[in-house]
Amino acid sequence: MKKILVTRKLLQENDERISSLFDVKLNHEDKLYSSDELIKLSEGCDGILAFTTTPFNEEMINRLPESIKIISNYAVGYGNIDIEAAKKRGIAVTNTPEVLTDATADISILLLLGASRRAYEGRKAAEKENWLWSTDYLIGKQMTGKKLGILGMGRIGRAVAKRARAFDMEIHYHNRNPLSKDLEEGAIYHKDINDLFRNSEFLSINCPGSKDTENLINEKTIKNFPDGVVIANAARGEVIDDEAMIKAMQNGKVFALGLDVYRGEPKINNKYLKLDNLFLLPHLGSATTKTRIAMGDRAIDNLDTLLNQNKEPKDKVN
Ligand code: DGY
Repeated sequence: MKKILVTRKLLQENDERISSLFDVKLNHEDKLYSSDELIKLSEGCDGILAFTTTPFNEEMINRLPESIKIISNYAVGYGNIDIEAAKKRGIAVTNTPEVLTDATADISILLLLGASRRAYEGRKAAEKENWLWSTDYLIGKQMTGKKLGILGMGRIGRAVAKRARAFDMEIHYHNRNPLSKDLEEGAIYHKDINDLFRNSEFLSINCPGSKDTENLINEKTIKNFPDGVVIANAARGEVIDDEAMIKAMQNGKVFALGLDVYRGEPKINNKYLKLDNLFLLPHLGSATTKTRIAMGDRAIDNLDTLLNQNKEPKDKVN
């Protein structure tokens, strides 16, 4: 049997399946291994089932034993892995697309609603029992009929668009290239992100995290949004320049922000915590049992395809 190192805890259903297919080193204690521990544990293994919390930079990749043929990432994003360095070493990297689309799109809508309808301030007031209903108390922004910009119209972005249509929103989007008409379903393409921003009363960030998308929302680009925009980020923290965002939230350019992801998470820029117009979640995009089991299954399929069937895994990204 081929040997696999699993770097974090899996759900039991996934544990059982991977154990039936491989000789596995599981991590039931869910310990966050150091680089040295990871290298040591991967000795004699053929593959690694990794998580977004397991960084594989170039140095780490170069230290991996010769026997490692694949890093199967339990996530659709793979910003934690230097895929070019892995390619140079002949190590395949795979991800888990499709299976977390709906769960993550749901969270994008939750962030937009939570931010625009002031859920954080509402929760605080309700807990304190010191509020009084009145006609202008905690007035938020309504999504109905507004223009929604989607930055990154891949599977998740399109699933956000589908949900937003139920709010009668007008969908605008930016991708490197326009989608085919049947995938667009009436959404309006903007080649230039600043054109997208000018047409976004609400913005949902759903693009992958990469060097190309880092700080796309910055001091200069933020100026293009209509005043009082609501922004939600369920993609990667690095897409937003936090200092610029904080300033825009303080001066009202940004009415409210919903975040599920952070630069250097679990850390958060402390200045955010002084702001009430912020709705926060701790990276829950894919956090449902159904989705997490499906992600595990997909990651195991990728290992099985390469190592047991000697075929190219469906989700190879490098
Ligand atoms: C992903 O799959 O990239 C998610 O962010 C992990 O929950």
